[in-house]
Amino acid sequence: MQAKLTLDTQYHNGDIDPRIFSGFLEHIGRAVYEGVYDPGSPLSDENGFRQDVIAALRKLRMPLMRYPGGNFVSNYNWLDGIGKRESRPTRPDFAWRSLETNEFGVDEFVEWCKQADTSPMMAINLGTKGATEAAALVEYCNMPAGTYWADQRVRNGHKEPYGVKVWCLGNEMDGPWQAGHVPAEEYAMRADQAAKLMKGLDNSIEFVACGSSGRFMSTYLTYDRITLEYAWDVVNYVSAHRYSENHRNDTAWFLAEGMEIDRVIEDYSGLFDYVRGMKRANKRVYLSFDEWNVWYKADQADGNWTKAPHLLEETYNLEDALVCAQYLNAFIRHADVVKIACLAQVVNVIAPILTKRDGLLIQSNYYPFALMAEHTKGRSLRPILDCPTYHAGERGETMMLDVSVCLAEDGTLAVFAVNRSQTDSVDLHIHINDALITGVISADTLTGSDPKAANSWEKPHAVEPMPLKVELNGDGGALAKLPPLSFTAIRGSIRKR
Ligand code: AHR
Repeated sequence: MQAKLTLDTQYHNGDIDPRIFSGFLEHIGRAVYEGVYDPGSPLSDENGFRQDVIAALRKLRMPLMRYPGGNFVSNYNWLDGIGKRESRPTRPDFAWRSLETNEFGVDEFVEWCKQADTSPMMAINLGTKGATEAAALVEYCNMPAGTYWADQRVRNGHKEPYGVKVWCLGNEMDGPWQAGHVPAEEYAMRADQAAKLMKGLDNSIEFVACGSSGRFMSTYLTYDRITLEYAWDVVNYVSAHRYSENHRNDTAWFLAEGMEIDRVIEDYSGLFDYVRGMKRANKRVYLSFDEWNVWYKADQADGNWTKAPHLLEETYNLEDALVCAQYLNAFIRHADVVKIACLAQVVNVIAPILTKRDGLLIQSNYYPFALMAEHTKGRSLRPILDCPTYHAGERGETMMLDVSVCLAEDGTLAVFAVNRSQTDSVDLHIHINDALITGVISADTLTGSDPKAANSWEKPHAVEPMPLKVELNGDGGALAKLPPLSFTAIRGSIRKR
């Protein structure tokens, strides 16, 4: 099979925000306890932070880490998690029916972020708490000593303010499962009031308003529209969530998931333009796709009132990794709309990393993220793709390839391509109208013959990237033979024709 990718360095969708490679850490299952915080492990430092987890996450280069939830945040009192550990209360967690000991709270999280080379993206509780508690948290985190909550932070051993820049105004408030769920009209008022109080304390902060929990919601886009219309002046980003599933066990159908991801982003782009037009505004609002992943196999969500239960410990296989790559491709292609995106989640719970007391397992979906986070730089070039199609079940005829491209200021081009075909390799001819490809810097591919192949404690290297040969074709282009069922990251140097 032959495919042609035509590019032009002048045809682009603007600069790619590195924050599309962010993560999400929630108090759920073994994400915090036994995931990032595990004082009993020989792999932890004196703070109880797992050093192997930190090292693995650093390679994912996540600029932001969303915390502490998720559904958890909507019944969370951040005050429970500060001060002397022995005085912190154990609480029942409404969302996951688990015990929350509060050993790890905001101060530990900020310290952990420093070690993990990431920055906090803090969610506030707008379910069972409100503007006052949220503003107190901003005071605690961001204000210099001299006021009540800022002084409390100093007393807890942290003289300098944390400077948390991005704040989520609640979580999935459109969902009836959410503690304190309310209709959009009520949520919009809560969000607006909280944001104004918070911004009054620190004018530099930005806000993510809750959007729809997914396209399946009956209030999809309506909840978002009502919120935006009311709180337009304070909102910088609207949050979108999506979890992909293959319950029907149809790989061809599942691998066409990228089309649906594009559609969600385009839905939001249309909504933002609509509200902006109605407001006659110059201001722009962007998308924060702050929960995304594959999630459908591990559905144990009830912690039976225990601490750190095994919840949502999804195993990721090759086809899941190829879907994850398509999320990132979609974010890159829509660089003008998506400014933040968070892989949900980072460790143990629907995560690319699993831990046991004395070890760590890297899952398949880690690799496309690591390669793309490392190589994505600069602007998003528009990929013009001439490519064969395949039949993706109910999703119909679908392009065999899913591609995104970026061009760094130093002339490094990166092409990311998923070959969805289960049977055919595709010869991808890359041509740049106004530039020559002068060299191939690297090419790595994640592939295999079995879409269900997965890493396990017994076989930890079953799904791993390997080098791929990419040739220059003599007329300034390049040729890559993309294996069936593969994700490939190619980097080359270019110069103007
Ligand atoms: O990531 C797991 C859960 O999925 C989050 O807590 C919630 O926001 C979403 O429904």
